[in-house]
Amino acid sequence: MANKIIESADVHLFYGKNEALKGINMDFVENEITALIGPSGCGKSTYLRCLNRMNDLIDSAKVTGKFLLNGQDIYAPEMDTVKLRKEVGMVFQQPNPFPFSIYDNVIYGLRLSGVKDHRVLDEAVESSLKQAAVWDDVKDKLHESALSLSGGQQQRVCIARVLAVKPKVILMDEPTSALDPISSAKIENMLLELRQQYTIIMVTHNMHQASRISDKTAFFLQGELIEYASTKKIFLNPTEKETEDYISGRFG
Ligand SMILES: Nc1ncnc2c1ncn2[C@@H]1O[C@H](COP(=O)(O)OP(=O)(O)OP(=O)(O)O)[C@@H](O)[C@H]1O
Ligand SMILES: [Mg+2]
Repeated sequence: MANKIIESADVHLFYGKNEALKGINMDFVENEITALIGPSGCGKSTYLRCLNRMNDLIDSAKVTGKFLLNGQDIYAPEMDTVKLRKEVGMVFQQPNPFPFSIYDNVIYGLRLSGVKDHRVLDEAVESSLKQAAVWDDVKDKLHESALSLSGGQQQRVCIARVLAVKPKVILMDEPTSALDPISSAKIENMLLELRQQYTIIMVTHNMHQASRISDKTAFFLQGELIEYASTKKIFLNPTEKETEDYISGRFG
């Protein structure tokens, strides 16, 4: 039986008086890649940020509904959000390395949790950078600034930084939209490998990317989840007319 790692139900989110999510019900199965698609402003990033409580940082945002991670309430008052964000890591649209060395970027989370053993840290740096498919690019300059890397390399170092703390789920908000096609392809191939160990939820505006790499696709429109099904079904035989119009580019 496929294990549901994240469950969410009856999710509403208001920014002040603007209702950005209007009753979303969505579960995620372990070791799958889910693509969230839909036009600009439909609530994809807002929904993604609910899953590791990044919306807590936005004063006007009020969330209601049920969110479970492996059966545990993500919004329980006793939930440690630092721990939550290690288990549910996030990669943003713009690569956001810290202005430190590549090495110090990757071990950032481990240092925060008090890991000091250099052998453990060295090992984590090497294995995370290898998993993120950027080891060969950076292995000879681990102590140089991460800011000296190309955008595509920076993004892969940011992915390594998330992997180093061994998350269960990785949220990605348009992780390749700022990158060239070759860097994007490297990240797509990496995600297909990572799927064996992680659950990945990714926002993308790139329909080819969604159809190439995701197992499931969710189509959002104006704060509602219109259709959520296998990627094959969404792209070949969607149930809803809105989904069909959007994926065929007839929308709006
Ligand atoms: N910090 C915020 N404060 C107030 N309103 C916000 C905030 N972030 C998003 N919104 C509003 O919530 C709605 C959903 O925005 P969201 O960023 O989730 O859309 P999106 O689907 O990710 O769009 P895009 O594809 O352009 O990234 C929009 O109407 C947006 O203006
Ligand atoms: Mg967005």
